[in-house]
Amino acid sequence: MAVTGESDIMETITLRNGVRMPVPGYGTYKLPDDPSASEAVADAIRCGYRHIDCAAFYKNEKSVGDGIRDGLRTCGLRRDDIFVTGKVWVSDRSYEGTFRSFRRSIEDLGLDYFDLLLIHWPADIHEHEDWEQINLDTWRAFSELYGKGLVRAIGVSNFHPKHLEALMKTEIAPTVDQIEFHPGYMQTETVEYCRTNVIAVEAWSPLGRGKMLDDPVIKEIAGRYGKSTAQICLRWIVQHGVVPLPKSSSAARIKENLEIFDFAIDSEDMKRIDDLPLSGWSGHTPENIKFK
Ligand code: A2P
Repeated sequence: MAVTGESDIMETITLRNGVRMPVPGYGTYKLPDDPSASEAVADAIRCGYRHIDCAAFYKNEKSVGDGIRDGLRTCGLRRDDIFVTGKVWVSDRSYEGTFRSFRRSIEDLGLDYFDLLLIHWPADIHEHEDWEQINLDTWRAFSELYGKGLVRAIGVSNFHPKHLEALMKTEIAPTVDQIEFHPGYMQTETVEYCRTNVIAVEAWSPLGRGKMLDDPVIKEIAGRYGKSTAQICLRWIVQHGVVPLPKSSSAARIKENLEIFDFAIDSEDMKRIDDLPLSGWSGHTPENIKFK
């Protein structure tokens, strides 16, 4: 899916159901539930981010919500000028649990709808014999929230093709899969499946938890383009048609991570980054992660 846009600060992609998602998104994982998180989120909006990626599991939705309100107020923006994502954690991964999680997150964030709601991790066979049914029951609740207009788009996170397949047969197919994606960990099979099925891909840990910032190949490329290694990683992701969700607690780096639309990486350098060996990987997959 190509990233297309209007300005050189914030671009958008259009999801299968016509909803436009601003690129990049600002990630809120690991922000503490205190005023520093509110400040970081408000700074992100003031810098130009129009997409905030949240989750119940991050346990900071109250502070993030305060930051969203502060950012909107100081920029003279309205709620519908920004795109907010929420996620349902595995402990609420069921039909009833989805509604419970949705109500709690919406209340904590102080919002009345999500632009996008994701199943945070799929149920997988290594922990659940009835994994397909758990995912389908959860998805039925997602589809109802969508039908009621309480979420503008629905999707998943960390799903591999085998988890996506069951949901693709339902009436409303997922529009997004948010996965770990960065130089050194490309998940080509999942990205190809998503491309074929018109599912937009978002990248969590786009800098490989910061580990890719010291990679010698990326450093050398960054030097030639006059850009930071973070900007090279994020631009490489965008050129793959994937939506990066950089997170930073520093105002200067939040701004730096948005300045990725005034240059392009040529095909030779793209290939050199594509070819980097496995690196910066979290080690987590839906097949090995333990929630029980
Ligand atoms: P900080 O919050 O101090 O900026 P990832 O998103 O891949 O998990 O990486 C997140 C890490 O990368 C955080 O430790 C964050 O630290 C750091 N980071 C984010 N943006 C930049 C940047 N532009 N330059 C250097 N480090 C960055």
